[in-house]
Amino acid sequence: MNAMIGGSSPTKLLVTAALPYANAKLHLGHLRSTYIPADIYVRYLRLKGHEAIYVCATDEHGTPIAVKAEKEGSTPKEYVNLYHKLILEDLLKMGCSFDIFSRTTYPVHYELTQEFFKRLLNKGYIYEAEYEQLFCPKCTRFLPDRYVEGICPYCGTEGARGDSCESCGRYLKPIELQKPYCIVCGEQPFIKKTRHWFFKLSAFQSFLKKWVKPLPNNVKHYASQWLKEGLKDWCVTRDLEWGVPVPVKGAKGKAIYVWFDAPIGYISATEILSEEKRKPKLWVNYWKKKTSKIVHFIGKDIIYHHAIFWPAMLKAHGKYNLPARVIAGEFLTLDGKKLSKSRGWVIEVSDYLRTFEPDPLRYYLTAASPLQKDIDFSWDEFAKRHNDELNDILGNFIHRALVFTDKYFNGRIPEPNALDNYDKEFLQTIKTYHKHIAKSMEQFNFHTALKQILELAAQGNKYLNDKA
Ligand code: MF3
Ligand code: ZN
Repeated sequence: MNAMIGGSSPTKLLVTAALPYANAKLHLGHLRSTYIPADIYVRYLRLKGHEAIYVCATDEHGTPIAVKAEKEGSTPKEYVNLYHKLILEDLLKMGCSFDIFSRTTYPVHYELTQEFFKRLLNKGYIYEAEYEQLFCPKCTRFLPDRYVEGICPYCGTEGARGDSCESCGRYLKPIELQKPYCIVCGEQPFIKKTRHWFFKLSAFQSFLKKWVKPLPNNVKHYASQWLKEGLKDWCVTRDLEWGVPVPVKGAKGKAIYVWFDAPIGYISATEILSEEKRKPKLWVNYWKKKTSKIVHFIGKDIIYHHAIFWPAMLKAHGKYNLPARVIAGEFLTLDGKKLSKSRGWVIEVSDYLRTFEPDPLRYYLTAASPLQKDIDFSWDEFAKRHNDELNDILGNFIHRALVFTDKYFNGRIPEPNALDNYDKEFLQTIKTYHKHIAKSMEQFNFHTALKQILELAAQGNKYLNDKA
């Protein structure tokens, strides 16, 4: 059970949705796990009168983006410009009510990330060490993990990537691959020593053990497993031009690892919002004052980064608030099968929007299953729920109430006549539902809240029939 936050106190709430990589269009799985739940929550908070903002951005660094751009003969910057636009368009069309949709390539983000890095370095939480890495003699450069492929040492599959094997799912180090080759030129790289910077994640073991306790069950479950295995220090730099430069003398050609800079995007986005609104205190209030709460919405594949790395980074920095909640949405399958882009088994948001309105999808993705369970999308189910529930129950009720008010009372709600017992009972029902719905919303059970709303609408329809 998720403990409530929000409630009736006038807390400031910062709601974030995981920053999508600017290298692919979004599909229904992204909407379901992250962007729609976060939007539902923030709209609810605003209605209740909280000061709540919804912050997101595109995540524009990382080797996959550099690799893809290189393969297509464009620059990373051109590449992310395009996807930033496409992703934002889709999300806005889906009704996501962001206060800001930033980018991790903005100068403010670079400054903040470098400041973060330097502070950790000065506090001794980041240290420099020697590191064995693959070096491509033909390209004369060190190869970041995604620039190498080879045979997986665990399952023997060819074409395993330098960071993980898709076939057996294990995380890998590039130097573990058998018969490695450089994906740019095909040459066999060799092991060479280089310098990198490491974050002392191991120092946060006992802190995190306590910190994960109030998190929702699915998040806590994974986090506890990792904590049990023991945390290892974490290499936070890469040999890459594309990224936030490592702010240390002599570190030319080294960039800060994308998973270090991306979550800082939550902060830099808030800071940029602050600048846009000319309210210099705004971001400070959300990130540094105790009266503010931060809630991250993410997909379940990045629980590690939000329940382990990120809180440890924030704790190490020491000047920012830690997240109050991390809400992880589970996956979406399509007619019972896992989504796969390469096999074309996916529905992109823009494809959906070519034919349909956003609301039926928002409804369906919320109604069909609780956020913390997988959901199976099927067009038949979608049509059925749209027609039988959204249209026939909720739509019908709203339509009848509005038409009735318009036709008989000139569109104004009249003073009531004397109430009979049935009226009074029904008013009580409304109040009770109101309470239950609010509780469900504040416990992040949007699925339950929607069910309750539908029940209430059904009762409203019955009331109108009975009173006809
Ligand atoms: N871009 C990452 C992904 O799509 C998510 C980054 S979330 C952040 O998996 F916290 F790092 F910003
Ligand atoms: Zn090469």
